[in-house]
Amino acid sequence: MGFIGSNFVRHILQLEPQVKIINLDALTYAGNPDNLSDMLGDDRHVFIKGNICDTSLIKTIFIDHDIDTIVNFAAETHVDRSIHDPATFIETNIQGTYTLLEAAKEHWGKASATNRFHHISTDEVYGTLEPDAPAFSETTAYAPNSPYAATKAASDHLVRAYTETYSLPCTISNCSNNYGPYQFPEKLIPLIILNATSGKPLPVYGDGGQIRDWLYVEDHCEAIYKVLCSGRVGETYTIGGGNQVTNLKIIKKICQLLDTLCSDSPWVPHSQLITFVQDRAGHDRRYAIDASKIEGELDWRPKHSLSQGLEATITWYLSNEQWIAEIDKKDNYREWIAQNYKGRELQ
Ligand code: TYD
Repeated sequence: MGFIGSNFVRHILQLEPQVKIINLDALTYAGNPDNLSDMLGDDRHVFIKGNICDTSLIKTIFIDHDIDTIVNFAAETHVDRSIHDPATFIETNIQGTYTLLEAAKEHWGKASATNRFHHISTDEVYGTLEPDAPAFSETTAYAPNSPYAATKAASDHLVRAYTETYSLPCTISNCSNNYGPYQFPEKLIPLIILNATSGKPLPVYGDGGQIRDWLYVEDHCEAIYKVLCSGRVGETYTIGGGNQVTNLKIIKKICQLLDTLCSDSPWVPHSQLITFVQDRAGHDRRYAIDASKIEGELDWRPKHSLSQGLEATITWYLSNEQWIAEIDKKDNYREWIAQNYKGRELQ
């Protein structure tokens, strides 16, 4: 139960009384049953531990539950990890998507209007933007730079090809950087919150001038649901938060919010913990999304400003110590990250 998927399941269960969700997750390092512990008693939600690359399991699930809709959140997503170990990304992101597509094609046969395969993807497939270039949109050419982005690009192409070749009723959405509750703390925002509250260095890659377009996860879930309900088959929708900010600026903003929310912390001002480290290899300089298609066609707009989203996110991490402690017990991510930038401090 990953970050965006678990938020989406909660969102849909609250919105749709009649829905039944079969939630398949391999529970690798970033998949966490605690992300949906509040929903486990709800019999509209069935959890199955398994891998999307397991062809016979996927076939069985399709038959047993007569699946009519797939939303594919399953992916390895952390760019730094993909630089160190691309193999698992190729397996889960490409082979896994292929397995789901094949199972859907076989089970649905001549798909009806009620069938839909929605594939969740990223703006990283479009590569990097120059400072003044227009934001990415549905017509931007693919130019992935990291192994992670390359595997997502490959999976997007497979989805597109299954619509064109086999008339599988697919849609794709490419989103900007998500943040919010339940995000695994290897990603920038939760990593900075947790390192800052425990007095650890806040690693800024390179000069911190890279730009990301931050999207609050709840806004993203609303957008996905709109695409599922009203998006046109064969179409792609880019989804962004309308918040283009440099990494350094967002890190300083988190530090300021923590100075207020944890005013008795020994680490105030938290910005004293900022540490510039060696840049990520192939680091994309800027991502930004032009969301005018989904805004115009599906009447979607993000509801959270960056300040509102950050405050909600920080408050969530400050009030969920048990969730954090469980992750610390199960995964050595902090150690892994410390090793990753050890000796890379810039003077
Ligand atoms: P990340 O959350 O890994 O998302 P992505 O690489 O998919 O955009 O990183 C967001 C940005 O923050 C990216 O430009 C890399 C940078 N970054 C840091 O400067 N320090 C960190 O410790 C991490 C994890 C990321």
